[in-house]
Amino acid sequence: MAITDATETQAGADVAAVQGAWPFEAKPLSPLMGAEVFGLDAAQPISDATRDAVLDALNRYKVLVLRDQDLTPAAQADFTRCFGELEQHVNREFRGAGVPEVHPVNNLDENDKPARGRNIGNYSWHTDKSYMPLPSLATLLYAVQLPPDGGDTEFADMEAAYAELPEARKQDLQPLRLWHSWERSREKSGSRHATDQEKQDAPPVNHPLVRTHPGTGRKVLYLGNHSSHVDGWPVERGEALIDELQTFATQDQFIYRHTWKPGDMVIWDNRCLLHRAVANFEMDKHVRILNRTVVRGDLPV
Ligand SMILES: [Fe+2]
Repeated sequence: MAITDATETQAGADVAAVQGAWPFEAKPLSPLMGAEVFGLDAAQPISDATRDAVLDALNRYKVLVLRDQDLTPAAQADFTRCFGELEQHVNREFRGAGVPEVHPVNNLDENDKPARGRNIGNYSWHTDKSYMPLPSLATLLYAVQLPPDGGDTEFADMEAAYAELPEARKQDLQPLRLWHSWERSREKSGSRHATDQEKQDAPPVNHPLVRTHPGTGRKVLYLGNHSSHVDGWPVERGEALIDELQTFATQDQFIYRHTWKPGDMVIWDNRCLLHRAVANFEMDKHVRILNRTVVRGDLPV
């Protein structure tokens, strides 16, 4: 993404001004998005002012990487609860045994051995919980055990992608609504089919294709693997539009790739990002375990 020197200088000044008001340090990870956060211990209770500063930083950077954390599942749940209501997992297999709102994300088989084929839906571009009436505001993912290399997570900026569309295209897309479906998402990613209980828990919903981010007022594309088709259109025509837009919006210039370090907890904004896990490690040899919590958001408009 082309950013002029003058813009960078101004952005740097703005960051310095804002950071003066935050009770932690935020160091940008790329010109597009992402910041490392230092001086914030997620295992300790935080004040309302600190919570607001985290949300402010999230609006600015979209992805926050809290380094050097040491979190039990209960502590992660407590920290997450500061930002809103926690989501249960639709897939009951992924509700953690100790704290059900903390979802284990791993590549372990039924014998706790590393294997391919677990959580494969995570390897498709998606935004968490878009199949719910009130989809996710943010996801928090904490590294419990990492492979020696790889196991990255990629994020695609749906605000930057939308901004790059021609004006006439933006006008055409504005009135459209997409259906999002847990059942269809499972089929598309090749996962085990949804159970009757899951279909009952998460029936399809529709949301605007172009939504306005409630924290920034900016327009973003809201799509991903959980989206199935366009409301009022023949299914195949809608699928083709989703494919085309998603291919456009996940080009390299809109992506930040996170390489995990031990102790990382990554917080990302599901309202303006797609994300996916990257299969760049030996899944049948090395263990990758992360604990996930999800904060419920507002009705997309
Ligand atoms: Fe996800």
